[in-house]
Amino acid sequence: MQKLSAGLKQEGRKIGFIPTMGYLHEGHISLVNKSKSENDVTVTSIYVNPTQFGQNEDYGKYPRDFDRDNSILEKAGCDILFYPEDSAIYPAGYQTYINVQEITKVLEGEFRPGHFTGVATIVNILFNIVKPDRAYFGQKDAQQCAVIQQMTLDLKLDVEIRVMPIVRERDGLAMSSRNKYLNEKERKDALDLFRALSMAKGLIENGERNTELIEKKMMEILKSVDSSAPDYTRIVNSRSFDREQELREGVSYYLLIACRIGATRLIDNFLLTVN
Ligand code: PAF
Repeated sequence: MQKLSAGLKQEGRKIGFIPTMGYLHEGHISLVNKSKSENDVTVTSIYVNPTQFGQNEDYGKYPRDFDRDNSILEKAGCDILFYPEDSAIYPAGYQTYINVQEITKVLEGEFRPGHFTGVATIVNILFNIVKPDRAYFGQKDAQQCAVIQQMTLDLKLDVEIRVMPIVRERDGLAMSSRNKYLNEKERKDALDLFRALSMAKGLIENGERNTELIEKKMMEILKSVDSSAPDYTRIVNSRSFDREQELREGVSYYLLIACRIGATRLIDNFLLTVN
């Protein structure tokens, strides 16, 4: 992959890159399509990165289906599928990790200690191998996008980070490889994330500016479902990820939710600007 990318760069071809952990869905394909429209060559990687999973998380059971993903990518017209082995990414004796300091202290960073160190490290390794001009990430992992943008800025990485909108099922559920874990009842209950976010958006559109109150109301919706165990409902400034007591006009905010439905931990968000 390194040689291939070096060759492409020498020919002056622009490389678009979609890092994934596989079990691809339409959200991933929207990133492939965007990359194809903006670059000469599109590379997708599939690598379930062990360093971003906590000890009690789902690394072992994370859905893997190479043949399925391969044919989805072929159909989508992705040029190169990079599918590295653990021993190529983290060979024996590996010892370097990247720690983005501030933005990782809250939200996902708080509930999944070490997660963003694993993400920043693997994304940096993949960037060094693939040498992309542009890299594409889904807004569903809003904080991950912010961490990667910060790392790219701080380490002066020569890659443009492109964050693309969340792709949803018809009924509003955000697409995620983890939706596969949900049984029929949980799949219905999972819609409460979207319901809570929609309700909060409605409150803001009707003039509510108190973040604590809106967060509480989102939490009430999540707690009304017996299979749910919410981690957080939070409204943060979309740039700094800081919490503000009162929403301000002209400022963009993420409304963020992390919630377990049965044994499956789901995240979702809306990005909105207050008018
Ligand atoms: O979002 C993901 O799928 C992963 O966190 C990523 C960016 C591929 C790094 O392993």
